Amino acid sequence: MIQPAERLEKLPPYVFAVAAQRIRKMTTDGIDVIRLDIGSPDKPPPDTVINQLIESVHNPKIHGYSGYQGTPAFRKAIAQYYQKRFGVTVEPEREVLPLLGSKEGIINLCLAYLNPGDLVLVPDIGYPSYSMGARLTGAEIYWLPLTRENGFVADLSQVPEAIADRAKFLWVNYPNNPTGVVISNQQYDQIMRFCAQHDILLVSDNPYVEVTFDGCVAGSALQSPDALNHAVEFVSFSKTYNMAGWRLGAAVGNREVIQKLLQIKSNVDSGHFLAIYEAGITAIEDTTESWEHERNHIYQQRRDRVLEALPQIGLDADVPKGSLYIWAYVENGSGLDYAEAALEHAHVALAPGSAYGPGGERYIRISVSVPDDRLDAALNRLKEWYPRSQFA
Ligand SMILES: Cc1ncc(COP(=O)(O)O)c(C=O)c1O
Repeated sequence: MIQPAERLEKLPPYVFAVAAQRIRKMTTDGIDVIRLDIGSPDKPPPDTVINQLIESVHNPKIHGYSGYQGTPAFRKAIAQYYQKRFGVTVEPEREVLPLLGSKEGIINLCLAYLNPGDLVLVPDIGYPSYSMGARLTGAEIYWLPLTRENGFVADLSQVPEAIADRAKFLWVNYPNNPTGVVISNQQYDQIMRFCAQHDILLVSDNPYVEVTFDGCVAGSALQSPDALNHAVEFVSFSKTYNMAGWRLGAAVGNREVIQKLLQIKSNVDSGHFLAIYEAGITAIEDTTESWEHERNHIYQQRRDRVLEALPQIGLDADVPKGSLYIWAYVENGSGLDYAEAALEHAHVALAPGSAYGPGGERYIRISVSVPDDRLDAALNRLKEWYPRSQFA
């Protein structure tokens, strides 16, 4: 057999892909598994977006390559969104680049910038692709602990000077996956100052910026002074417009970084389907605030139902202000054991906290992106199972 590249040895199989395989097997065996482990919106995008896609697909001229930078109209729509929503002015031609979802941007940015031995500041806990991008490129990871005590925001004053001076990237993600924490503009300003001082690129991964609760409005890292010199931000249509399967996002920010990302991407992919860009423009321009509020209200109600159930299933959590998740502390045992047992005995899939970094060992992540009746059924199953479990 041909040996795979050594870099694969440093890259464990994607945790959700492994879980999906096991769940598929259970489903094939006739078991009804309820999946609270993934964050894929259960509701569709706005009708206008779907109608635009259908109309665009019928255009016979739309089926060719779209260009490596997407369309000027799409880049302009993203720039206008930044202006209108955050008061941030970016140049569509040089400071915006469409992505095939933000996950792609995360990994390709690592390929564009990281050499073996480079250092990256990665939140522990955080979305797995930040550390996987480092592993894939042979870069070193310096974990920034996110704990309940520090409100799940890294204390940058604890980073040793020599580490800060060596680091190339700092990853942030607020509203946060998995904790649901949202940070203020002042907090972004502080983070930006730290990056400017140490010549670090701030990479703000911001796919949940429009998924917030209790009247909370999330901001953009690019609102901080001097951000376009030190930062790039990823936005995504997956959660903002319920378009996770459409694979559409954008990188916005420092023009040199955008240029380097394009250099990688133009060698790797050939852009998106033009019809998707057209529907994406409709999503940005025509989605009403009331549509977003209503969608967030549904998530908020589900969040509250989960929070209410937690004491009965041996879990404890702070109230998330955004994202699709409840980050719950397992009172008696590890997150992995709890998730395994819940899947085995209650047929409810939960994400083990250790998937998000070493600091997640005692946690599990519960997603609210399932229909109400399925969420209620899952909570009922867990309530029935828990008193008889090893965790009670
Ligand atoms: C924090 C974070 N970043 C990036 C992604 C990937 O999003 P996309 O669908 O845009 O690739 C996710 C998906 O769940 C996420 O939670």
